[in-house]
Amino acid sequence: MIITKVNHLRGEITVPGDKSISHRSIMLGAISKGTTVTRNFLQGADCLSSIECFRRLGVSIENDTANNIVTIYGLGLHGLKAPDAVLDTGNSGTTTRLISGILAAQNFESILNGDASIQKRPMKRIIEPLGQMGAHIESMNKNGCAPLHIYGSRLHGMNYTSPVASAQVKSAILLAGLYADSKTQVTEPALSRNHSELMLGAFGAHVVSAGKTVTIEPAKELYACDVYVPGDISSAAYFIAAGLMTPDSEICIKNVGINPTRDGIIRVCRQMGADLTLENIHETAGEPVADIIVKTSTLNGTVIGGDIIPALIDEIPVIAVMACFASGTTIIKDAQELKVKESNRIDVMVSNLKAMGADIEATDDGMIIHGGRTLHGADIESHLDHRIAMSFAVAGSLCEGETNIRGGQCVNISYPSFYEDFRQLAR
Ligand code: S3P
Repeated sequence: MIITKVNHLRGEITVPGDKSISHRSIMLGAISKGTTVTRNFLQGADCLSSIECFRRLGVSIENDTANNIVTIYGLGLHGLKAPDAVLDTGNSGTTTRLISGILAAQNFESILNGDASIQKRPMKRIIEPLGQMGAHIESMNKNGCAPLHIYGSRLHGMNYTSPVASAQVKSAILLAGLYADSKTQVTEPALSRNHSELMLGAFGAHVVSAGKTVTIEPAKELYACDVYVPGDISSAAYFIAAGLMTPDSEICIKNVGINPTRDGIIRVCRQMGADLTLENIHETAGEPVADIIVKTSTLNGTVIGGDIIPALIDEIPVIAVMACFASGTTIIKDAQELKVKESNRIDVMVSNLKAMGADIEATDDGMIIHGGRTLHGADIESHLDHRIAMSFAVAGSLCEGETNIRGGQCVNISYPSFYEDFRQLAR
């Protein structure tokens, strides 16, 4: 994908549906009684992996791709069927980890596997806590990664203090907790996204959140509930950043989810001096939504760390790009989780931004960026990580010269029409 300099960004755009919420609607729809209709479903490859896995588990799912409406004919909590083949989770950490919590409690065995990236991502973080509940999950390569062999077991409730602030870990445990013989409690070091808690409640589960602790009661059944998926703030983040940094720009991103466990990007942009406003704030199905308006702004460096990190974990690559174009120094800390995403996002951001001429160094838990240098187009290695590709499309659009993003089509994981939408704003 070749990116060249953009003169201005103007107009209105709607980004596709939220990836996390789209996944969860398939999973909860599949294990509830009745028919769930999900609107504004994200047709990204990751969410399609979730659909394919549940089809293999016997769930009938219709996907009207023209209208982004998915209909899930739920089989109830105990209705899934043994799969006749390996469940392919593709590139999706969310599919792999969340489905493991469900499969751990079934009365059949299953095998999960995914692409080269998934086979490197840490699964001990779910194998261990689910094991404490009585689950039996084996990493078939004995390296703590997929492929995973899951033997269904009877599960017990537990109190778990998680060493990582991870919604995928928390959600796997909560889903397993639906099937346990007593209540299950998870405490995180910092609050991660709470979409599972909100949606489980809407489907009839008894879930209570108090600070960084969430408790779920075993369920007899969940009941189908239609889901409207708001626009994905993680996808909006690229246009927020681009709109702030491109001269002579003003854009409105409509209908974006601004759940407080996801809105770190908004808080950081404001901290950096952004002209960013929220309009038309309302709620759809328990999730807060707004239109986000950004105008060309002068940005200053900032310090990002602590409890805000899980609320912007997927936006750190594009924040690193913003920091290069801001004046002064930006320090990103407490973000060691970046090393175990679809790629090692600390190393990959640092080496690619250096190739563009940035003054950036990696630290153990983040990066230090001295802004204000003029960047130039460069050859970028995406490592097939969608968020790396989109971050460098933004960076490249601000630079003289050509930026060539290798493997740039990997944006189809979370935002298939990303380049077209970007082009439309640049017209
Ligand atoms: C996700 C949680 C986050 C995030 C990922 C989606 C989810 O991962 O990075 O893109 O849908 O639960 P962790 O919970 O592992 O940090």
